[in-house]
Amino acid sequence: MSFNMALATELDSVSYVKIAIGGVILSIIVSVSTAVYTGLYFVGKYRELTHKNRSDKPFANGFSMGTLLRVLLEGLSLDSFFKIMTETCRNRLYTVVKLPYKHDLWLVGHPAIVKEIFGPGTSKNWVRATKDESIESLTFEKPDPKLANRAMLYTGSDSGWKHTRVALTPFFYNKDFTSVDKDMDRVICEHIDLAVSENGGNVELLNMTLTITIDLVLQLLYGTVLKGDDFKNLVKSLAGYITPGSPSLYDGTLDLPGGASCFDYHRKVGAEIGRNAKPGTLASIICASAIPEDLKDENLAFFLEALTPAFASFWAICHALTDKTGEMAKQIKNDPIFRQQCIKESLRMYPPVPSLFPRIAQKDMEIPNPLYDERKTPTARSWFGSIPVEERKTIKIKKGIRAFVIPSVLHYDERFWFNPESFMPERWEKDPFLLEMKNTAATAIFEKRKTVNYGGLLSTATEKIKSKSRLNFLEEISKFFAGNKTSSNIRNFMFGHDHETFMADASYDNLAVRTGPDVMELQPWCYMPMGLGMHACLGRRLALRMVDAILYNFLDNEVTFYNGMVPSMFATKTHYERVQGIDCVYYMPADPAYITVNPRKSLSFKDKANMRVSVVDYVELRKSGIKSKKLTDLLAEAMLADDSDDSSDDEE
Ligand code: HEM
Repeated sequence: MSFNMALATELDSVSYVKIAIGGVILSIIVSVSTAVYTGLYFVGKYRELTHKNRSDKPFANGFSMGTLLRVLLEGLSLDSFFKIMTETCRNRLYTVVKLPYKHDLWLVGHPAIVKEIFGPGTSKNWVRATKDESIESLTFEKPDPKLANRAMLYTGSDSGWKHTRVALTPFFYNKDFTSVDKDMDRVICEHIDLAVSENGGNVELLNMTLTITIDLVLQLLYGTVLKGDDFKNLVKSLAGYITPGSPSLYDGTLDLPGGASCFDYHRKVGAEIGRNAKPGTLASIICASAIPEDLKDENLAFFLEALTPAFASFWAICHALTDKTGEMAKQIKNDPIFRQQCIKESLRMYPPVPSLFPRIAQKDMEIPNPLYDERKTPTARSWFGSIPVEERKTIKIKKGIRAFVIPSVLHYDERFWFNPESFMPERWEKDPFLLEMKNTAATAIFEKRKTVNYGGLLSTATEKIKSKSRLNFLEEISKFFAGNKTSSNIRNFMFGHDHETFMADASYDNLAVRTGPDVMELQPWCYMPMGLGMHACLGRRLALRMVDAILYNFLDNEVTFYNGMVPSMFATKTHYERVQGIDCVYYMPADPAYITVNPRKSLSFKDKANMRVSVVDYVELRKSGIKSKKLTDLLAEAMLADDSDDSSDDEE
């Protein structure tokens, strides 16, 4: 009995030990596999989210938790937010970001929505957010009143903006900027000469284009020449101002007079030189205008900040030099129309303004959904019964939403651009100008060109399709793609039926959209380096002329990459790795580009035969009926008569 008892106790303890060991092993297996599965899930999710070109993925429009997760993984900052959002909404309709206690943010991914925001008739339903509203829509920070900026760009659509736009439009639209060509060439060449004498012509390109742009703005808009430390300090303060967060702002290397900040310093200089500007300059027009007094200094500072031509010329010069045969550089120099094409293409690939100020919806709206195809069988409903966005007939827009239109998203939309990741000036052969050209010698030349490559996309196909019935076309291509899903397709054995079905569907979608009858109509809404609608860049005529001049003069001075080395960003980086959005202000070149410029051959700017020919001229307002009235009267009438009605675009 006692033996039995002892045996039983021993057996009991052995089985307890075994059970305990078994339990431990089991729990280890469970936790390890849970960890592995969770890890795999997140790795898979991460891979899916970071998939760069997701045309092989189904449309994922609307609200996306995964996107927010990725922002957290990348590090919560405005830059990573924009980077990820940009990737997420490209080739799509829109992405919604929901932040607690805030209006929904929309990242627009389709030109049909861009058209709704900026287009004739509907643009009155949207207003541009002010700088403070823009910051508040994205962050929980209260805008710093010390950094308040009430210049025209930052104040949405208020009456201060309207007065400024009315006062300054005649200067920007009517002035014959050919009169400043010689001055531009002189300023640019002086900087090139300086680089040659100081450093043997070896310099970093953005250093040059930025310094030159600041000098051009000073001399052309303020009629002022700053020399020595005054100029150097202004350059430093502006460079710092446009790169918030730059280390030099904190490490004490800035060293501006009186310990001033970049913000205070350039504003002080702007007001000082502006108040003393020569008659006829933009600054003097601001001072003499009916703009409220307190806004004058704000705007005098603002125009010093108009530095985007530096970026546009940077990219155009770089791309000219990446062609090692030198043919592209030669053609850019000798053919002013091709030069325009290159500038236009640079602004497409690297829009210097990465995001337009958000537009705020003024009422609830419902617009046709461009992705909706009634011929498609609806997919199975999710557990919650929600209908995928692309299967809804209309898109609902709620009053108060903030819509971000991000040029680089639309400029790379594969549904509307052929090979968007390549620099192809030839895509603009039929449409070389950013500004309208009418009845000029230049237009006559390009109209004669035989090419059918229009605006960059499958225009030949589109033309054919227009002449056929759209329905027949769709039927034909859907049969073709359905045929490719069958198991007789050898690729099915090689890569799997699911994958092939997926790819066939994605290709069908892509082709159907690209060759749709509305592609031509929507394409203008895919290109917006200068903004669109009534807030479109006021200085664009001058800006393009500046870029034209910088590009020409660098090539004329036989610029090369330093030691012939093409910067690695053109060989190893994709387009979006080449640019760096700093606090969403500007798209900066992410890497330096070292160049060598050579001494100028002719020191005289009087030699007409050698003068640069530029075709950035003869702009006409696109508003119908504008010709019958004087521009100034029309603007004043349209914009100031009724402050509550913003519908009167001057750019429609
Ligand atoms: C390549 C160079 C330039 C580019 C890419 C560019 C781009 C833009 C864009 C995208 C906007 C609209 C922002 C929005 O809608 O949210 C804008 C507005 C503006 N730009 Fe430019 N810009 C350039 C050069 C200039 C220059 C040189 C000046 C002045 C000399 C200038 C003056 C303005 C003004 C005054 C506005 C505000 C217009 C308004 O609110 O009505 N820009 N620019």
